[in-house]
Amino acid sequence: FAFTPANLAWAREQITKYPEGRQASAIIPLLWRAQEQEGWLTRPAIEHVADMLGMAYIRALEVASFYFMFQLQPVGSLAHIQICGTTSCMICGAEDLIAVCREKIADKPHALSDDGKFSWEEVECLGACTNAPMAQIGKDYYEDLTAEKLRDLLDALARGEVPTVGPQNGRFASEPKPGIT
Ligand code: FES
Repeated sequence: FAFTPANLAWAREQITKYPEGRQASAIIPLLWRAQEQEGWLTRPAIEHVADMLGMAYIRALEVASFYFMFQLQPVGSLAHIQICGTTSCMICGAEDLIAVCREKIADKPHALSDDGKFSWEEVECLGACTNAPMAQIGKDYYEDLTAEKLRDLLDALARGEVPTVGPQNGRFASEPKPGIT
């Protein structure tokens, strides 16, 4: 792995933002840029970032493996679907969303769909509990999902469309749910 020239220049600039001896603080943006470049974080990519920051590989891996934002195995070329399975989302139907992922993508989390375009996993709370159940796709949140709406989203992505992000039931995030006063 090596950063592209543009990404290398960007990474070096990030490192200069931190005081001497604190270059390791740039690890998250550098890992993120490596992931954007490769699609997921390969071991050589993590090693490369660790070397740039003067860190041991294991220290960089500790960070990469802690956050759901980092993928340590290949993901779908079109989209990686992260379904929140924590309490609010679980109560409001996360299991139905996971069932859709099993049906339309792959039976097991982190496996690729047959065409290699999609993958999925269950993750912990993504901080959008008021709009449960929800999923993160790429950098975007899709909230107030139902199994049907998630199916529609996946079909739209497969057609190359970019679905509207945010609540999928037409309400704004600050509005109460129907029936809840
Ligand atoms: Fe799902 Fe918080 S419980 S976003």
